[in-house]
Amino acid sequence: MAKLLATFLLCTLAWGADPDWWRNAVIYEIYPRSFADTNGDGIGDLNGITEHLDYLKDLGVDAIWITPFYPSPQVDFGYDISNYEAIDPQYGTMADFDRLMREATKRGIRVVNDMVLNHTSDQHPWFKESKSSRKNPKADWYVWQNADAKGHPPNNWQSIFGHSAWQWDEKRKQFYYHAFYKEQPDLNWRNQAVRDAMYDTMRFWLDKGVAGFRLDAVPSLFEDVQLRDEPYLEGMDAYGERIVSRVYTDNLAEVHEVLRELRHVTNEYPGRVLIGETYLPNSLELAKMYGKNQDELHLPMDMQLGFLNKLSVADFRRKLFEAETQLNGNMPLFAFDNHDNMRSVDRYGDGVHNDAIQRLIATVLLTPRASALMYYGEELGMTTNTPTRVEDVQDPIGRIGWPKEKGRDGERTPMQWNNDANAGFGGTHKPWLPVGPNYKTVNVAVESKEPDSLLNYYKRLIKLRKENEQLREGEFVLTNEASETVLSYIRVTRDGKAVVVAMNFTSQPQAMSVDLSSRGVKGRHLKTLLASFPGAKEPDLGHITLPAFGSYVGQVEP
Ligand code: GLC
Ligand code: CA
Repeated sequence: MAKLLATFLLCTLAWGADPDWWRNAVIYEIYPRSFADTNGDGIGDLNGITEHLDYLKDLGVDAIWITPFYPSPQVDFGYDISNYEAIDPQYGTMADFDRLMREATKRGIRVVNDMVLNHTSDQHPWFKESKSSRKNPKADWYVWQNADAKGHPPNNWQSIFGHSAWQWDEKRKQFYYHAFYKEQPDLNWRNQAVRDAMYDTMRFWLDKGVAGFRLDAVPSLFEDVQLRDEPYLEGMDAYGERIVSRVYTDNLAEVHEVLRELRHVTNEYPGRVLIGETYLPNSLELAKMYGKNQDELHLPMDMQLGFLNKLSVADFRRKLFEAETQLNGNMPLFAFDNHDNMRSVDRYGDGVHNDAIQRLIATVLLTPRASALMYYGEELGMTTNTPTRVEDVQDPIGRIGWPKEKGRDGERTPMQWNNDANAGFGGTHKPWLPVGPNYKTVNVAVESKEPDSLLNYYKRLIKLRKENEQLREGEFVLTNEASETVLSYIRVTRDGKAVVVAMNFTSQPQAMSVDLSSRGVKGRHLKTLLASFPGAKEPDLGHITLPAFGSYVGQVEP
């Protein structure tokens, strides 16, 4: 009890001190299964995270977001939760979690939990009760529907993970809806009892001192009450089904009502943050996620910039401009990597200049006016290790969709700590996924010793963004807007002090100049703060030279 109280006080003091800590923050995503294994069973665990907190502190992150570690049948590796208020024994105990919280807090690192609202596991007691009859107290906690006259599902809705979103239940003689796997039945968010139960589980973790939540699959919460068929789009999906438009199952207006309630719950605690997994078609939809009165999400993820998947200056410029002008002044949250997508180096790399391209992405992630999400191993240059044989696949979508959809194992391989067996992930047991082939050179131990490693580039960038006033507080202004080769912008504070950021988006060297005469910036000389290439001269605004995919950050000096 005394310990619990101490944690609570420590967190309240730390969080209360800076309730806006999430602005400009660097948040580091940890996939616990793949981070570090301390008991040698081949599966990462909470103690593995605790063991490496000094590494994260040294990297400079403000918070860690840990993907689900609650009890789960692990069909979707934790995103199918069977108990929201406990720890899966695979990952440790509640005492391990409390220790992780204490040790993180000591180091000034906040802990953000993942919260899966849209669905539970089919093994959750709520679902077991709900499916037991049509008349139990939780009968209406999930989305149940009768079959049509021919015994078919009520409509053509498709699971995001392939095939019909309706699963027949023999006992109730009804279908239930699942936006993801059939083992992940959707909760009925039109039922207030469901909402209240979920809000209580959130309070459980807020009371423990977590700094907030990353809310899973936010746009999926509601479906059309009239059960209208989705219009078909052209083409077939990876699972061999016609593509549906999802207008009746994705991003319904009712979502915002729930987001306001969630914000209300969170506001009971000082300094907590709501981050949203918000894959949306454009910035105007993204803007709505903050709420008309800034009363919804603090940080809905911008999944547009990071997932352009093409190094096009014009597209990057347009997305940055939209984030700056269409989000009503709110703080954008950029991300290039996560546990659901091929790593960015494999989406943006050209195979020749990958190292420079990784630094370019780091620069674009960490220098605009935005909070930033990183994904473990991104700072090292870990690559996607897609399975080559269906029998090796762990992620069920890789088996359902093989060979068109090979699943997400590739971006979930063990963190590369050193060049020992299993890349220092731990244990002698085979890790749950094979270690990436480049682990001998791409790892924490090797890169910590090389001054010019990607890891040290990330560290310097994060440090710079904390220490430099313009990068911390400056306005974001694009420059050289007609250039088809170089993306550049300044961060400028009211006193006319500015930092110039410039990135070459081509494989040819580029010479450029920046005209700041109309921006009230004093000075022409540039002091190099950071460059992704060796031998950057101290240039002036009229003469900046960038090698292939080179990135440059410099302070304008009077
Ligand atoms: C989110 C998660 C993903 C999971 C899905 C279903 O998209 O990031 O990993 O499979 O939701 O919960
Ligand atoms: Ca383990």
